[in-house]
Amino acid sequence: MLAVAVLAAGKGTRMRSALPKVLQPLAGASLVERVLASCDQLQPDRRLLIVGHQAERVEQSLAGHAGLEFVLQQPQNGTGHAVQQLLEPLADFSGDLLVLNGDVPLLRPETLVALLEQHHSSGAAVTLLSARLADPSGYGRVFADPSGAVSAIVEHRDCSDEQRLNNLTNAGIYCFNWQQLAAALPQLSSDNDQGELYLTDTVALLRPAMHLEVADADEITGINDRLQLSQCEAVLQQRLRCHWMAEGVTFTDPASCSLSEATRFGRDVVVEPQCHFRGASSIGDGCRIGPGCLIENSQLGEGCEVLHSVLRGASVGPHCSVGPFAQLRPGSKIAERCHIGNFVEVKNSTLAAGVKVNHLSYIGDADLGAGVNVGAGTITANYDGERKHRTVVGAGSKTGANSVLVAPLHLGQNVTVGAGSTITRDVPDNALALGRARQLVKDNWRAARP
Ligand code: UD1
Ligand code: MG
Repeated sequence: MLAVAVLAAGKGTRMRSALPKVLQPLAGASLVERVLASCDQLQPDRRLLIVGHQAERVEQSLAGHAGLEFVLQQPQNGTGHAVQQLLEPLADFSGDLLVLNGDVPLLRPETLVALLEQHHSSGAAVTLLSARLADPSGYGRVFADPSGAVSAIVEHRDCSDEQRLNNLTNAGIYCFNWQQLAAALPQLSSDNDQGELYLTDTVALLRPAMHLEVADADEITGINDRLQLSQCEAVLQQRLRCHWMAEGVTFTDPASCSLSEATRFGRDVVVEPQCHFRGASSIGDGCRIGPGCLIENSQLGEGCEVLHSVLRGASVGPHCSVGPFAQLRPGSKIAERCHIGNFVEVKNSTLAAGVKVNHLSYIGDADLGAGVNVGAGTITANYDGERKHRTVVGAGSKTGANSVLVAPLHLGQNVTVGAGSTITRDVPDNALALGRARQLVKDNWRAARP
């Protein structure tokens, strides 16, 4: 039997944030979500999350995770005290307990598998992950002999100068034999610099205690402050870009682009500099994105080109071009082969195949039929000051430059709207609609003036 416990009750004082530390986001997922995901592959029988500081907020953020047991630690008196809270919920449990620090988000699932394997094959009472860090300051130091047997872990602040020279650091990831740990937990004391109960002190009470050193020290980076948060973000971004390059995406300037875990790319996508993908976006085969785009929770079909534009909650069919300087807002549903040009904003609207909105337009709450050509500066006036109304334009219609379509409004198919018109009444199929003052020309007007 395997139980996993994630320590997530701490405040994260060093973050100086209103947000509990484990909810800080990293490449689109919170620290605690990442830690939980790292043990999915192990298919544990029980998953427990120790919460305390802003417990409700942490629980709410994980509402979608079925089968998670929340255990309250109040007050938060250290990592040993946190694990003591498991004595009751795990009273009848026998097997292994994998303890994960909620602020160590870069662990690879394979590393946890290796930890459990070594733990089983050696029969140790506890096996912990360690790494040699170039700069181990802040971390607990692991004291071990060459066979891998650990005698103690000493926190940085409790170390002597000599002990600090040891750069073998504690990752905060442990596999315990639960029954042996349960017997050791009541023996913890708070005789240390922070006056807290340290989980690390159980290691000196359990025999044999072993460690497994990870090759990639990045994996065990703990996040205690914003500098470490930014360092982990950089590591994750590099992992994501490497993954997608291996899958056939070209990044012309990878370091200037950022990705989210849930973004998917097809083959032969080219991403130019300064492009940022957030949320769950998908980019079809052969798209060319950038430079300078923000794409969030949006879907692009194959062969699209997007340049210097912002897309949020939009879906765009194949072979469309967007930008430069366009904004597609939530609910924009754009079919194949459309052109959205410069300084165009689209919101909550459907554009059928081949629609062109090339310059300086606002299309909000509208449905444009196939092949509609929206003249430069056409605006849908969708808001009457109280409510939003829809504009429907039939297939094949054209609006002249600087048209205002005052919603609710229905233009039939193949309608032509004269330039500069303000259209307030519905227009039938094939008609010309004009809504502007007639031009007046006074001959020789200058000469007639005194
Ligand atoms: C801890 C380890 C240290 C290790 C480092 C790795 C201890 C005593 N020290 O130090 O050896 O090198 O992690 O990153 O364990 N938490 C609770 N309840 C509490 C206190 C903390 O749930 O009362 C949670 C925190 O939310 C956090 C985790 O435990 O997710 C670790 O706590 P933190 O204060 O960050 O410990 P470190 O000082 O980093
Ligand atoms: Mg920490």
